[in-house]
Amino acid sequence: MNRSGAQRKIWHGNGMIENNLKLTEQTFRLTLSVQGTLPPINAGQFVMLRLPNHTDPLLGRPFAVYRVSGNVLEVIYLAVGKMTKLLAEMRTGETLNLWTPLGNGFSPINIATHIIMVAGGIGQTPFLMLAEKYVQTDSHCTLLYGTRNAERAICMNDFRELGVDIHLATDDGSRNNDFGGYHGLVTDLISKVYQPAEPTRILCCGPRPMLQAAFQIARQFNLPCEVSLETSMSCGLGICFGCVVKCRCEKENKNDYETKLTSDKIDNETWDYRRTCIDGPVFDAYRLCW
Ligand SMILES: Cc1cc2nc3c(=O)[nH]c(=O)nc-3n(C[C@H](O)[C@H](O)[C@H](O)COP(=O)(O)OP(=O)(O)OC[C@H]3O[C@@H](n4cnc5c(N)ncnc54)[C@H](O)[C@@H]3O)c2cc1C
Ligand code: FES
Repeated sequence: MNRSGAQRKIWHGNGMIENNLKLTEQTFRLTLSVQGTLPPINAGQFVMLRLPNHTDPLLGRPFAVYRVSGNVLEVIYLAVGKMTKLLAEMRTGETLNLWTPLGNGFSPINIATHIIMVAGGIGQTPFLMLAEKYVQTDSHCTLLYGTRNAERAICMNDFRELGVDIHLATDDGSRNNDFGGYHGLVTDLISKVYQPAEPTRILCCGPRPMLQAAFQIARQFNLPCEVSLETSMSCGLGICFGCVVKCRCEKENKNDYETKLTSDKIDNETWDYRRTCIDGPVFDAYRLCW
């Protein structure tokens, strides 16, 4: 089921590598084409990629869908471990198993909203499709992007071409010629771009401490906040329960529940596990047990 409760249709098959382009030392842009047409994919949904004829690793790995057009799908990945390092060696014409769209994606956003996308590391990947959708409306899209150094900040031109307002933050204070570079935490930039007069929504993807810091700021300003989690997964389909996270559960007494959402205290009755692959990867930050 998707957010609207409709039965979801998952495409499963082989994708052929059209391009596997090295962007930086560890980052790659993978372009895959499939036979036939992919079902509609929403911003924040993901794809599982698996190396065919491999037992190590046997399982697929989840990646945000960066961009999709007809039967062509793009993923931006960081070569960090077993699967992604092998993937980095693959060439045009080779194939991968894939299944998509998976997960819930970001919830719909009212028009004329300031959408502040907060990304850390490779966390910008689910936001391009979101920006593609909302720059067409009266919404104002801002990307706050934090990386270790300016060299690691990738794909910013894709966002700029859409008209997204981009602010870079780097750990070492290095700067990008076009986008500058604030020396410090990317979350420090939230209060700099937030305009209280504009309805605002904060969306985040990146390392957990960054998500938590962004959520604390959203809570301080009383703003809606969604976070996309990068929990490791096995099936991606809701079967194995390998991807659970602790969430606050809705109680029958709604008022009581609302109070508990904003309280730091979580008792045993108010939480349960949720599967990141089907209830997420995008969660209302107020519902997660941080
Ligand atoms: C919804 C979702 C979307 C995602 N989107 C993206 C995306 O767009 N781009 C992207 O790059 N990633 C994305 N990820 C993360 C991606 O799935 C992981 O990077 C990928 O699974 C790594 O697989 P791997 O086999 O290469 O690494 P693994 O071998 O499974 O290792 C995973 C992590 O453990 C570390 N590790 C491995 N071996 C050891 C060891 N012996 N000791 C200590 N640490 C170790 C690795 O450095 C790595 O950080 C996403 C994850 C989710 C859940
Ligand atoms: S990865 Fe199997 S249930 Fe989520």
